[in-house]
Amino acid sequence: MVDVHDLTLEEKASLTSGGDAWHFQPIERLGVPGYMLTDGPHGLRKENSEVAALDMKNTVPATCFPPAAGMSSSWNPQLVREVGVAMGEECIQEDVAVILGPGVNIKRNPLGGRSFEYWSEDPYLAGHEAIGIVEGVQSQGIGTSLKHYAANNQETDRLRINARISERALREIYLPAFEHIVKTAQPWTIMCAYNQLNGAFGSENHHLLTEILRDEWGFEGIVMSDWGAVHDRVASLNGGLNLEMPPSYTDDEVVVAVKDGRLDEKQLDKMAQGMLDLAEKAREAMEREGFVFDKETHHAIARRAAQESIVMLKNENGLLPFAGTTKVAVIGEFARTPRYQGGGSSHIHPTKMTSLLDALEERGTDFVFAPGFTLDRSEQTSELTDAAVEAARNADVVVFTMGLPEEEESEGFDRTHLDMPAKQLELLSRVAEVNPNVVAVLSNGSAVQMNPWQDDTRAILETWLLGQAGGSAVADILFGDANPSGKLAQSFPLDIKDDPSMVNWPGGDRIVDYGEGVFVGYRYYDTFDVDVAYPFGFGLSYSTFKVSDVRVEATGDTSARVTARVTNTSDVDGAEVVQVYVNPASETPVERPIHELKGFVKVFVPAGESVDVRVDLDDRAFAYWSEKDGGWRVVPGEYGVEVATSSRDIVSRETVTLIGDGFYEELNEWSNYGEFKKDPYGALAVEHMLEKGRTGELPAIPEDNLGVQLFLETMPINSMPVLFGKDGKRLTQFLLDDYAAERERLGK
Ligand code: BGC
Repeated sequence: MVDVHDLTLEEKASLTSGGDAWHFQPIERLGVPGYMLTDGPHGLRKENSEVAALDMKNTVPATCFPPAAGMSSSWNPQLVREVGVAMGEECIQEDVAVILGPGVNIKRNPLGGRSFEYWSEDPYLAGHEAIGIVEGVQSQGIGTSLKHYAANNQETDRLRINARISERALREIYLPAFEHIVKTAQPWTIMCAYNQLNGAFGSENHHLLTEILRDEWGFEGIVMSDWGAVHDRVASLNGGLNLEMPPSYTDDEVVVAVKDGRLDEKQLDKMAQGMLDLAEKAREAMEREGFVFDKETHHAIARRAAQESIVMLKNENGLLPFAGTTKVAVIGEFARTPRYQGGGSSHIHPTKMTSLLDALEERGTDFVFAPGFTLDRSEQTSELTDAAVEAARNADVVVFTMGLPEEEESEGFDRTHLDMPAKQLELLSRVAEVNPNVVAVLSNGSAVQMNPWQDDTRAILETWLLGQAGGSAVADILFGDANPSGKLAQSFPLDIKDDPSMVNWPGGDRIVDYGEGVFVGYRYYDTFDVDVAYPFGFGLSYSTFKVSDVRVEATGDTSARVTARVTNTSDVDGAEVVQVYVNPASETPVERPIHELKGFVKVFVPAGESVDVRVDLDDRAFAYWSEKDGGWRVVPGEYGVEVATSSRDIVSRETVTLIGDGFYEELNEWSNYGEFKKDPYGALAVEHMLEKGRTGELPAIPEDNLGVQLFLETMPINSMPVLFGKDGKRLTQFLLDDYAAERERLGK
């Protein structure tokens, strides 16, 4: 195995940039390979030719699994892992050592252009689902690149914008998905974000790349840049970035920086050693000859993944599923030309493609099709409308496929509104007039405005973007061969103006302030009782479930266990997602959301049967990030634990009393009178001071004067002279001395 000390300075420098846009730099003299790395994230996007950078769609065929917008609604990490394994196999066939994904940035605002590529507005869900991709791919000896670290939450000005985020919001919202995956699955690589975070570019951010990632979380892999995110090779290497992609052909600058002392050679050694280690990890898979993945098996995985990605939002009078003999009018161009993935660097060239029409034909369904509208911006024509209305009139039911055309959402820009295209909505209302049995099948990468058009439907399937087997999956759900089990991974606001981040969206002057702090998505809507169209975690099934026998017990000072029974009370087999939300402690020192998702389990329950589930809550489930203490805190007290089927459908709320993390904050002259009264030793000091006031040994505090009492409560004790003149200092000193003496006496 090659060690960094076997290399010349020039060779070390060379390892820290790519050989070209999609390869590491080899060192032929020592047999260090220059393997390939490429996109990601919901399948393999390997370019066909040298010039493909300008022709993003010219890539080798690979299975297009549902993008994260879809997969995240599955709430099924095991299924995500299967997808990961399949992706890993495709990488082996194509000699790709590292696939660039998954992306776990938070959907701070549904307008975010890359929402379709990201998992959730909730960090727990994002981390606990996307980890499946990392574990699955890496189980095949292929690396992943967890991206974009950190805070790529918008596309507007993404190459320059400075995201100003409090340390608390960062730790509680924007980092935990990365943290969980790093600590649990050790992704081989991480990709930095383009944007700045609190004044430092992602590619140079020492706090992110070194202090948090390596020193705190113990990351063992390498950090690469997003494509073109490096502006200063030396600053990046000093910050903790191993690899610049694609290369800027400036390795000589690195050599000069070592020579003139701007870059410590030991730091370069560390960065280069990471690259050598990475090549070694990939070697076994890359040396496998002739491996060919099974296209049909992978297509079948993509179909199952698509089925579980579908969220049934509405199903009045059990309109769905259809009987096999139902006469169906299929309306909408999407049924013929599916929107199955998002635009930009994640665009995959599928091995095969099943539209809804293909799938219905395959099953021998009795249907007619009318495209109804075009996917471009051209005016609606009366021919298209009339044909669609006619088709609807003569059918039992209408499947109305609608959604956002590809040009409306993509990497590179944000949406400016949540509206559905007007011509689709006009047609929908015309169709509903002649046939009210309308099932809307929605294709979109992020939330859309649901009112008022949803009243023109009796059922809605939110199908997101479903990858190459989406058509079959939708047909499976329509006819009941698959039972919907998806749950929303993001809230659907009634109006984008309700979104808490709108006040600071998308920023200006190259700055965006995350003023809503930790109150992102449902954390805001639920805390402040803001109505939504559909809540986080929501999704219907053809089955009905009862969740009962909920028990919550403490399992340690800062942990608890939840158990419950899920009964399928219907005659259809199905799956339910039991969601566990935690309420803050009764006395919380900081503002916290009314509840936060801290555990979930998706459970398949055969008709009429029951299954017991268990969710373990660790200390992080109860903790908040204290900016004052610079760390996680679990305060003692009573916490609420909710078992739910969406953030708004709480089945049971129990409480658990926790001892807490035992953190003791010493009092000092900056502690206030109220804090002294709450502290066991401080309270004694206050009592002694009051006694001495009564006997005249110290200035007396007017105990019956409510105004003074209230004033004192929040006053640091070093401000006593404000109320008591120069005698006030004696009170301050007495409190400090007596507090110290009591701690000494009681042995603390
Ligand atoms: C994207 C990354 C992608 C890279 C390579 C960048 O523009 O932000 O997600 O992996 O290009 O295509």
